[in-house]
Amino acid sequence: MPTEKTGRGVVLKHSTGCTAEVLFYGATVVSWKVSDASAELKERLFVSSKASLDGSKPVRGGIPVVFPCFGQPSHPDHSKLAQHGFARSQTWNFDSVVMDNEAGVSIRLVLDPTGNEAISAIYPKSFKLTYVVTLAAHQLSTDLHVENTSPSETLEFQALLHNYIRAPADDVVVTPLQGLQFYDKTESTEHPRTNPKVENRHEVDVKRYTDAVYENGPMKYRVTWPTGGVEIKARNFKDVVIWNPQEKGHMIGDMESDGWKNYICVEPGYVRGFEKLGPQKAWIGQQVLTVIQD
Ligand code: BG6
Repeated sequence: MPTEKTGRGVVLKHSTGCTAEVLFYGATVVSWKVSDASAELKERLFVSSKASLDGSKPVRGGIPVVFPCFGQPSHPDHSKLAQHGFARSQTWNFDSVVMDNEAGVSIRLVLDPTGNEAISAIYPKSFKLTYVVTLAAHQLSTDLHVENTSPSETLEFQALLHNYIRAPADDVVVTPLQGLQFYDKTESTEHPRTNPKVENRHEVDVKRYTDAVYENGPMKYRVTWPTGGVEIKARNFKDVVIWNPQEKGHMIGDMESDGWKNYICVEPGYVRGFEKLGPQKAWIGQQVLTVIQD
């Protein structure tokens, strides 16, 4: 069976043996396993062993979906929202199996706020979200479709895919970010959002506490370490966030002990400014993660 529904989500299985698991809660991908060179199935995402997977709070790990605001809300339409919005803390509905063949296996989940009072109380907008997760050999694609279902109003939003890539944090580097303008959220200056820096490093590491929002990136990144890596290719996600809390991870309640040593967050998104989607229009933000052979 290439897809298997469980109580909490869907498991995707590809003929090559690789697997992925998507929770209904938050449409969070919580596992992506691909074989390494010695044919051993290896987990490629990090999920904290202290993460709650029962829908009581956003999952600390995997690929949470951030919508319609990134970080603390800064748009008047988002004033009632929590950090990173509500998509990651709502239960999505299974829609269908989109594809099931040698090339890949793919499912679609939907978050439709119609009749959902928890959403309309904090975000009374007309929209619909669809998330398509596709598993292929060595590849995982996740596509977020945003539809503005209003006949007259523009929908202004941010969106981001918060990838926790399993990697040795002290040895991992991300390229190519050199020359990009970025906003350093680790600085206690009052307005890091309006005080950009320029990245001068050829290879960006997270050996120190890092929380950086890069603007207008190339949408193709290599996340590598001495024994492996992942390529991330994005579409319509013009920005990218690099985050690792290092020792500050102690302060995160659902972070396992030393968990920050085992991942890097590389998060393609549209987070500087807002995507302005006209009435009855649709937008797709996409990413493809590919294992660089290890
Ligand atoms: C990153 C942000 O995307 O997410 C960080 O840039 C934030 O500032 C991190 O700390 C984790 O956020 P949360 O809400 O999942 O703890």
